[in-house]
Amino acid sequence: MDRKFYLYILRQKKYTLLAMKRLLGEDQIRKKVGRLAGQISRDFAGKEVLLVGVLKGAFIFMADLARKMTPPVKMDFVRLASYGAGTVSSGKVRITKDLETSVKGKDVLIVEDIIDTGVTLEYLSRRLKARRPRSLKTVTLLDKPSRRKVRFQADYVGFAIEDHFVVGYGLDCNEEFRNLSGIYVLK
Ligand code: IMP
Ligand code: MG
Repeated sequence: MDRKFYLYILRQKKYTLLAMKRLLGEDQIRKKVGRLAGQISRDFAGKEVLLVGVLKGAFIFMADLARKMTPPVKMDFVRLASYGAGTVSSGKVRITKDLETSVKGKDVLIVEDIIDTGVTLEYLSRRLKARRPRSLKTVTLLDKPSRRKVRFQADYVGFAIEDHFVVGYGLDCNEEFRNLSGIYVLK
């Protein structure tokens, strides 16, 4: 973490001063996404991959990852509710927007922005496995292994990070900051 940013955010008609520290810059992320895409492309060579993006956080990561992959790719999205407003997990998960395609007999790769307690992905992978894909793997850009409440390990992990709440590159705090190009720790 090399730089500190102060952002004035207009919230409910008044400005709030927020301190953010950059954790990962654009270049670091781009290189990592390229490496993940290379590894995934080798592992899935000769197969068609169905990417299942977890909305909303994974949309930027999935867009970049998919464009660096060499096997043929199809894409679909799910939306899960696990976090309420703010930074505290409710511990409960449900599918609020399901896939539009069948995963039966397909090689499926779940694309997630971050794994925290593991509750969301443990639930989603269990639900998708029950639909009998040929294979089911998971890639996450970020992982907070110290926060696990349930056992879950992604097949591909971009960066393992400490217990910080992070925003940017798709990740939000109350829907803000998804469009930042880097990843920042919110103070
Ligand atoms: P889990 O079920 O606790 O693993 O939570 C996973 C979901 O919580 C992720 O898909 C994110 O949407 C959200 N989340 C967890 N940690 C962060 C964070 O540091 N910043 C933004 N969103 C987070
Ligand atoms: Mg997410």
